[in-house]
Amino acid sequence: MSDFDGDKDYSSFTAKRVTPYLGAELEGIDLTKPLSPAQADELRDALARFQVIFFRDQPISHDAHKDLGRLFGPLAIHSAVAGIDGHPEIVAIHADADSKYVAGEGWHSDLSADEAPPLGSILYLHTIPETGGDTMFSSMYKAYDALSDRMKAYLGGLEAVHDANPVYHALFKDYDKRYPVATHPVIRTHPVTGKKCIFVNSSYTTRIEGIPSEESDALLKFLFDHVKNPNFQVRFQWQPHSIAFWDNRAVQHLAVWDYFPEVRSGYRVTIAGDKPFSGALQSQKLETVASTV
Ligand code: SIN
Repeated sequence: MSDFDGDKDYSSFTAKRVTPYLGAELEGIDLTKPLSPAQADELRDALARFQVIFFRDQPISHDAHKDLGRLFGPLAIHSAVAGIDGHPEIVAIHADADSKYVAGEGWHSDLSADEAPPLGSILYLHTIPETGGDTMFSSMYKAYDALSDRMKAYLGGLEAVHDANPVYHALFKDYDKRYPVATHPVIRTHPVTGKKCIFVNSSYTTRIEGIPSEESDALLKFLFDHVKNPNFQVRFQWQPHSIAFWDNRAVQHLAVWDYFPEVRSGYRVTIAGDKPFSGALQSQKLETVASTV
């Protein structure tokens, strides 16, 4: 796979790259209003192509936020955090002077311990600190491509356990509650582009199956360190009413909490995904974007 071609002029917006490989800012589209089927097709192409897409000045309502997500599939209900009043599909992302933690401080793929982890997430922030509070994204295509052929071959046959219990028990101290646990391929095939990407993360993945625990620990440590390589990353600086929309299958992300005690606040909608698989795409529905990313 080569790096993507560069900026792209769609008929309904322009996508301007933020790094040579990952992330684009989309200009000329208003997400606060209903989108046409043609605009939705172009947005789907942009997400697959750039892996994370950014928007400015989009004071989006809860309903428009959910409608945007539904253009990509059914919305997911968070398996650990309750939605806001009247909108079970929307979770609040909020930090202030009373916060003891913030969501997503470690590298992760959202809800990867779910049997079918989300396709993607759309985060809208209306209030941001004076400086700081960036979100970092790392391309799991790029991380995979950088591995040696021997390592790719070894990892290709392995599966790993993702366990949400340690994460949420540590936050909520609700030790009697059971959160999702699932087993997924260490290297998954993206269901749209057909490309391979690393699918273990330091927040949820606890062990690789079928190998000694020392080997699993060492391999996971190597992979968790590997995805932190800045060459795979983009860092998004928020403004009030910005939106970041990431493909949860192709990137990991991390919320930087460097702004305490300031306020950072907004809402996230998550789109349901499917069970990760490895190997070649079975379906011939590969979208045209697959040949270009
Ligand atoms: C998250 O992990 O969804 C939160 C990301 C952020 O607040 O930047």
